[in-house]
Amino acid sequence: MRLVTCLSGALLLTGVAGQSSRTVPPLAQVIDQKRFNTLGNRSAITDGNSQFIPPGYTAESLFAKPFHIYDDEFYDIIGPNPTLTLLNSTGTNPRFHEAPVWYPATDEVFFSQNAGAKAAGTGLTRSAVIQKISLAEVTPNITAQRTATPGQVRVEYVLPNPNIINPNGGTNYRNRILFVGEGQGPNTPPAIYLMHPYSPYNTSILLDNFFGRQFNSINDITINPRSGEIYFTDTTYGYVQDFRPPPGLPKQVYRFNESTGAVAVVADGFNMPNGIAFSPNGQHLYVTDTGLIQGYFGFNTSFPSTIYRYDVQADGTLENRKTFAFVSPGVPDGIHFDTRGNLYAGCGDGVQVYNPSGKLIGKIHVGGTAANFQFAGKGRMVILAETELYYATLAAEGAFPGTLY
Ligand SMILES: *[C@@H]1O[C@H](CO)[C@@H](O)[C@H](O)[C@H]1NC(C)=O
Ligand SMILES: *[C@@H]1O[C@H](CO)[C@@H](O)[C@H](O)[C@H]1NC(C)=O
Ligand SMILES: *[C@@H]1O[C@H](CO)[C@@H](O)[C@H](O)[C@H]1NC(C)=O
Ligand SMILES: *[C@@H]1O[C@H](CO)[C@@H](O)[C@H](O)[C@H]1NC(C)=O
Ligand SMILES: *[C@@H]1O[C@H](CO)[C@@H](O)[C@H](O)[C@H]1NC(C)=O
Ligand SMILES: *[C@@H]1O[C@H](CO)[C@@H](O)[C@H](O)[C@H]1NC(C)=O
Repeated sequence: MRLVTCLSGALLLTGVAGQSSRTVPPLAQVIDQKRFNTLGNRSAITDGNSQFIPPGYTAESLFAKPFHIYDDEFYDIIGPNPTLTLLNSTGTNPRFHEAPVWYPATDEVFFSQNAGAKAAGTGLTRSAVIQKISLAEVTPNITAQRTATPGQVRVEYVLPNPNIINPNGGTNYRNRILFVGEGQGPNTPPAIYLMHPYSPYNTSILLDNFFGRQFNSINDITINPRSGEIYFTDTTYGYVQDFRPPPGLPKQVYRFNESTGAVAVVADGFNMPNGIAFSPNGQHLYVTDTGLIQGYFGFNTSFPSTIYRYDVQADGTLENRKTFAFVSPGVPDGIHFDTRGNLYAGCGDGVQVYNPSGKLIGKIHVGGTAANFQFAGKGRMVILAETELYYATLAAEGAFPGTLY
């Protein structure tokens, strides 16, 4: 084991017992978990959401080399020279929040602002906005660039016609984009919207109720790769963020068949069902529960920050709920897979990567909440970190290319 001292004075390990001596890429560092297996009275994070800075590290040292290797499997994911570039920062307005969708035909990534954030000016008076960037404008910086060069990428507003109210989840669907909106007040119900990804962004509403009852606030959406049916989570963030009425339905996961209009509940028993994604082979569905975060009611550390896994039957029903992973800090919000079946989760310190057995193998550390992110084909990823927008390059490839369905 060799110790080197980096500029900030923190000790960085370049070789760790039990791990290989593979070359650590310039922007990566090996995190030796044994160094913090015992912390004594230094383990004092009480809110579940604060950053964990292990002994021997500093916020700066974690930031300086943002690809954190927890297991050798992560080397193949990041490749020899991963990069992380800050594309834009907004100070306080959380413009970079959710619903990231890559549209390959134009190489654009769409995403939404934070719907319930006071700092975004959203709530009962104004809906969150959809925005987009063109990846053709993006050049990765080979050093971890933490100061955005203004104007290096344009962040453009997208104005759907008619508007999509409080968009929070999205996915590619039949060469268009499905967004889910969380609704607003009692008169604008949450809904599934289908948007044409070109100006003038013509949009239609596919579903906005369950047999006459409004959903609470639809959060995220995905497609079953084996059947083409739509799956979505309905939770109560609109209520706990003060822009929707009290719950009118349990917090559940639904399946929707666009051809027949059939809508069915496929899972319940959640505190805050949130992110949703199928494994690349479609045999498993993963649903996150972000109960730790209760909106304006604060954090509740006795509630889940958990990713659950189900077996998906041929008829589209779910079986065998299994606890796949519990994350810290923060919650597993948006989740996506690479082609090899590793699960990536947007968490309280960045994007955390879990192998198929639920083991944390690495992180793309941004030092704060990354609610969601999206692969943009092979080796490219856009990370939404609330007031910061990042672009990562790595070796992995997203499981579902944008035009699959
Ligand atoms: C931890 O324990 C040590 C030894 O008892 C004590 O000196 C130190 O002040 C404690 N630290 C905290 C944060 O309580
Ligand atoms: C890359 O980032 C470094 C460090 O922030 C900066 O000095 C350099 O100008 C950036 N290069 C480009 C091409 O933007
Ligand atoms: C962020 O994007 C907006 C819109 O394109 C631009 O006006 C602003 O200068 C950018 N800010 C930074 C720090 O890049
Ligand atoms: C969008 O909708 C308008 C009517 O609202 C229609 O005239 C136009 O042809 C549509 N454009 C596309 C590309 O579908
Ligand atoms: C929808 O339901 C019909 C009738 O059960 C079925 O044939 C079809 O495969 C389902 N899936 C989709 C994507 O329409
Ligand atoms: C967390 O939830 C539990 C169970 O409902 C409740 O007893 C407790 O008061 C909550 N704590 C906070 C801080 O809200």
